[in-house]
Amino acid sequence: MTSWLRSFHPLFLCLLTVVALCSRVSRPGESVCWSSSLTSCSECLKRGPQCAWCFKEDFLEGARSNYRCDLVENLLLKGCGQESIEQSEAKVEVDATISSTQVSPRDISIQLSPGSQASVIVEVKQLERYPVDLYYLVDVSASMQENLDHLKTVGVALSLRMTQHSSDLWLGFGSFVDKPVSPYINVHPSKLNNPCSDYEVRCRPAHGFHHVLSMTRNMSEFTRVIKQQRISGNMDTPEGGLDAMLQAAVCQKAVGWRPEAKRLLLLMTDQPSHLALDSRLAGIVVPNDGLCHLDNNIYTASTVMDHPSLGQLSDKLLENHIYSIFAVEKQQYQWYEELVRLLPGTHLGKLGLFQASNLTELVMGAYKKLLSEVAVAVSLDEKVSSRYWVSVSPLCPNGSTANQQSCSGVQPGQTVFFNITVGMHSCPDNGENEDISLTVHPVGYNESSVIRVHSKCRCHCESAGHCQNSVESACKETGREQWDSSLNLSCQSAGTDLICSGRGVCECGRCVCDQRRLGTVYGKYCEKDDFSCPYFRGMMCGGRGDCVLGECVCKNEWTGDMCECPASTSSCQSADGLLCSGHGECVCGRCVCSDPRRSGSFCERCPACQSTCQSNMNCVVCHVAYGLSKKEDYCNKTCTTAVHYTDNGHTRDKWVQCMYVSNNNCRYPFQVTTEAGEAELHINTRAECPSSGRVGTFLSVCALTVLCGLVIVAVSRLLLQKRHRPPGGTVADGVYNCTDKDLSYIPTTNEKTVTYRRDRPPDRPVEMNIQVPKMAFNDPWH
Ligand SMILES: *[C@@H]1O[C@H](CO)[C@@H](O)[C@H](O)[C@H]1NC(C)=O
Ligand SMILES: *[C@@H]1O[C@H](CO)[C@@H](O)[C@H](O)[C@H]1NC(C)=O
Ligand SMILES: *[C@@H]1O[C@H](CO)[C@@H](O)[C@H](O)[C@H]1NC(C)=O
Ligand SMILES: *[C@@H]1O[C@H](CO)[C@@H](O)[C@H](O)[C@H]1NC(C)=O
Ligand SMILES: *[C@@H]1O[C@H](CO)[C@@H](O)[C@H](O)[C@H]1NC(C)=O
Ligand SMILES: *[C@@H]1O[C@H](CO)[C@@H](O)[C@H](O)[C@H]1NC(C)=O
Ligand SMILES: *[C@@H]1O[C@H](CO)[C@@H](O)[C@H](O)[C@H]1NC(C)=O
Repeated sequence: MTSWLRSFHPLFLCLLTVVALCSRVSRPGESVCWSSSLTSCSECLKRGPQCAWCFKEDFLEGARSNYRCDLVENLLLKGCGQESIEQSEAKVEVDATISSTQVSPRDISIQLSPGSQASVIVEVKQLERYPVDLYYLVDVSASMQENLDHLKTVGVALSLRMTQHSSDLWLGFGSFVDKPVSPYINVHPSKLNNPCSDYEVRCRPAHGFHHVLSMTRNMSEFTRVIKQQRISGNMDTPEGGLDAMLQAAVCQKAVGWRPEAKRLLLLMTDQPSHLALDSRLAGIVVPNDGLCHLDNNIYTASTVMDHPSLGQLSDKLLENHIYSIFAVEKQQYQWYEELVRLLPGTHLGKLGLFQASNLTELVMGAYKKLLSEVAVAVSLDEKVSSRYWVSVSPLCPNGSTANQQSCSGVQPGQTVFFNITVGMHSCPDNGENEDISLTVHPVGYNESSVIRVHSKCRCHCESAGHCQNSVESACKETGREQWDSSLNLSCQSAGTDLICSGRGVCECGRCVCDQRRLGTVYGKYCEKDDFSCPYFRGMMCGGRGDCVLGECVCKNEWTGDMCECPASTSSCQSADGLLCSGHGECVCGRCVCSDPRRSGSFCERCPACQSTCQSNMNCVVCHVAYGLSKKEDYCNKTCTTAVHYTDNGHTRDKWVQCMYVSNNNCRYPFQVTTEAGEAELHINTRAECPSSGRVGTFLSVCALTVLCGLVIVAVSRLLLQKRHRPPGGTVADGVYNCTDKDLSYIPTTNEKTVTYRRDRPPDRPVEMNIQVPKMAFNDPWH
């Protein structure tokens, strides 16, 4: 987005700021994508990669078509379905089916639109060992005689040295001098055949390029051929080296380059080279066509075509994945230093002492250095290069991603990743979509990747003719403004005489709504807009409804002034299926608890409330104290609920299951319900007591003894106290109040039934009733 903005006039940015300030409601999309002059989908896409067009037929009915262009999220918010949005997405597809040994992926498709960019990662893997093809391209002008002699011994030495780094080495050989035309050579008939006749030396005629020996692994053959080479001669100092190089590179078949080999082209010369345009001196004006012109191994177009330009040569070397090595005389070193900077995959070495070992070292060093440096070159057709840009950043095996173009020091077996970003500036002038392709060429590798770029400048909906409401455009095409009163009627909503709600004009029986600075006015009668309703969570009507004449009209599942409340109460339903656990009501999708002590999203928490079991515990204790004989009306002071006894283990649904554990560890299950407003309590008369065999008997006897003792102590204490008590009072009404902790209380009768149960048999408890005989008050003690 930023790069996109940068391309705009500063005045426009200024304007944007003003609009943003004026508009109370800040909607970023509108200022970027919206324009009053915009009428078509293609114009919309050109406003930037973030802009999209809604081609839904009835989208924002009544609004002008420029409102169809907006950010995707805004379009979705305004009711355009994802399927009706035309958008300039950057897409990357990789065809992984093409196999490769070193470069992957080989085929990549990208879709771009103006202002967008896409990145792909291309992986370049270096193999452990390569076969190597080395082509000697030797300047055979007279001064090179000595060098040529040394070459005779190079072949075997080099192939021996190479075995460490390469699976096999093949050698080839070619020679060059210069274009055999005046003024480069002496055209005197006697000099044409033997340019060295002045020195009484037998020389061969000058030539642009002779291919002598195709790639061979037979080193004795190589040596034999070198021995046959004779010197030639010419007039001027620079030679035609680059012209010959291009032929050696493109004449694949004649030279016999192997497709799987690492290709080295070694140029040996002691002079600078001619460059493009130099041959105008000889009247040659035809530019080099970059094609192979070998006939019977002789370069035939030498006298009709100019020398190649450096760019042309560099392309051809890259295309044919050839590394070049320049072995030049010390004096010319500087001249070539400037040159090799412009040629990728090039090594420059000095031909110092002219010895075979020096040349072997030079080739070895160059090979190692060239292979350890991995770079890619991306070629893009010049015709389209102004509309696209490419950036390459490598991720080197040592982890470095520094701002460089290549990785050095790459070892055999290592992989280099290149992050290649392709971006699009603009569409072609005719506004049509275009397909171009880029070639990502790792320098010196026999494999490359193709990136196919499909530019999206025109919308799909345009070719299908449904980018906007068809009626809308059809009416405008007639050009007649129809002010028919019957047509005006269809612009009035029922019950109002305002045309288009007073916010638009009626054209051809349809409202065309006003453009407001605050936002969009739309709708069949221009009754809707996107700015005059209350906001909830930063969105008008919470994004859940339409704004009709200043009021939110919520979608079905929402309600409230700002559509802030869900219409259903499902969000209040607690796990038990009740609304707010039965302790509150659902207000705006949230539980409002009726009991202030309750909390939690479903009023399910109440630390302050006693549990149902706890609140009925005293009642059960009381009944247990009465021995659970069939007297359910007992304890109606302590019990707040109706009490029933049961003797089966049946538990009822939705009843709260409780348990009272008495002092002697007997367990009394009981169940409580508060359903339907009526509280009820069921006590199970079958208590479970943990007793077994003699221990149980022993314990119960013990308990009995203690109880008897207590009763006796209590009775005697009471008798003693009785003397100081006034007669009458609660003692006489005969109700045992369990909650009363007054130990001085004693009933008139102290008959007690102690029931205990043995484990065996479980369903028929053995009961032992011990009657503590009634003792009449005052009787024995008085
Ligand atoms: C290698 O070249 C020499 C000399 O040209 C020839 O005699 C010999 O047969 C060749 N060897 C092979 C294996 O082709
Ligand atoms: C490229 O070179 C590698 C290794 O030498 C070889 O395996 C592969 O087949 C070559 N690819 C092509 C297309 O020739
Ligand atoms: C050439 O090789 C010889 C012997 O291997 C060595 O002494 C000399 O330094 C080399 N010269 C250059 C310029 O590399
Ligand atoms: C990693 O390699 C890059 C390029 O080959 C080089 O510039 C950088 O210094 C190296 N970094 C380290 C930490 O070796
Ligand atoms: C590739 O480069 C682009 C642009 O520089 C960057 O946005 C992207 O994150 C990079 N991708 C990776 C995987 O590094
Ligand atoms: C129809 O409405 C337009 C404005 O929308 C108005 O100018 C015109 O006078 C109206 N025509 C009639 C016949 O009411
Ligand atoms: C308790 O129940 C009995 C028997 O039904 C009844 O006579 C008595 O009035 C009740 N007491 C109270 C306080 O309700």
